Order: sequence, then C-alpha cells, then structure tokens
Amino acid sequence: QSTLIAPSILSADLTRLGQSLKIAEDAGADWIHCDIMDGNFVPNITFGPIVVDAIAKNTPLVIDTHLMIADPDRYIEAFVKAGSHQITVHQETCPHLHRTIQFIKSLGAKAGVSLNPATPISTLESILPDLDLVLIMSVNPGFGGQKFIPSSVEKIRLLHKMRTLRNPDMVIAVDGGITEENAQEVVSAGADALIAGTAFFRAADPKAAAAKIKSASR
Ligand code: DX5
Ligand code: ZN
Repeated sequence: QSTLIAPSILSADLTRLGQSLKIAEDAGADWIHCDIMDGNFVPNITFGPIVVDAIAKNTPLVIDTHLMIADPDRYIEAFVKAGSHQITVHQETCPHLHRTIQFIKSLGAKAGVSLNPATPISTLESILPDLDLVLIMSVNPGFGGQKFIPSSVEKIRLLHKMRTLRNPDMVIAVDGGITEENAQEVVSAGADALIAGTAFFRAADPKAAAAKIKSASR
C-alpha cells in the first residue's frame, strides 16, 4: 500500500480555499488535514467547525481533523457534524481518553490520538487496541513551517512495533516538518500517512511534491 499524504489546509492560500482543495485533489492527496488551534492548549488560533464544514462540502477527500484544543469533548460533535471523517485529540488534553475515544466512535467517525514530542509512546499502552489512528507530532504543535524533530523517528519505530503486535490495522500518521527529503526515513520507521503543510502548499509544484512524498515506501 502506498504512503498516504494529507495536505494541511493551514498552509494553503486561505483566500482561495476551493482552489486549494482542487490542487490537493489533483495532486492525488488522500486526506485533507484540518488543524484546529484554540490559543489555549497551543499558542495560536486557527479556525472552527464552520470552516471545516465549508471544506468538507467542497472536496471528496477524507476530512482529517486534528484538535489542538483544551477540553476537546466539548467540540467533537460539532466537528463530526461539520463533516470530519477522522477526529484526532491530544493525549495531553484528555484525562478520560478512553471515554473520549469511545465518544468519537459513537458519532461514526474514526478516532485518533496525537502525542506531543515530549509525550512517550508508552502512554498509549492501554488504549492502543481501541485506536484507528495515532498522530505522532514531529514538531511542537502550534505553527506550520517548523523543523522536523529527529527523535520522532525512534518514537515511530516503537509505535510501529507495538501496533504490529496489538492493533495491526491502526494507522500511524506523522505531523510536522515533513519534506520530500525526510519522507522516506519516516515511512521506513513505520509511518503510513504523512501530513504536509509547507512541503505541499508552498511547493513550486505541489503535484510533484506529493508524488515524491507518496513514493516513500517501507
Ligand atoms: C502543527 C500542525 C501541523 C502543521 C504542518 O501544529 O499540527 O499540521 O500545520 O505544517 P508543516 O508541514 O509546515 O510542518
Ligand atoms: Zn496537524
């Protein structure tokens, strides 16, 4: 199976949302990654359900919503209603992670957990069998265009080992600082899906960039 690519709409030209979605579609993108930031859990604010709704209504691609918000339980339903097929919450924001994951699934969406660079894989030990997806942050969340943190690769390897034994269908996605240059290393470590903001939307040729990133294989 070829590597999935998920352009992050945060790095697109937001005055041309429809056109940006078309660019992603034409480039063979698999998911559209929606970065939701609240100015509380992370030091930046982006957009909410009404923008996700507009995106979902204008693309056939899978809507992958990454909630970088405190107390995500309050907003999960709104983001599913807006058209999110996958909802990823941060482990650091969920004291009752099991309940939150079951809640996402009860709404008919796929459930993911994201880990900040300093949060160890071991924190997922008990919840792993329940997860559809894990999103490894390879930058500190808050902004696009940051540099990939090299120690993320070891975390991906460890998670890949763990899921092979306990939940082989679970998807490993990696988010932050992905480039055409590091995609192969990240996929070799065990990643199935790569989020790409800058490397896709700010590329001179997004279609070529996507092809290069998707060609990474295990
Ligand atoms: C970081 C976001 C990422 C980011 C990706 O807080 O979760 O999705 O926008 O952008 P690049 O690929 O530019 O690091
Ligand atoms: Zn993200």
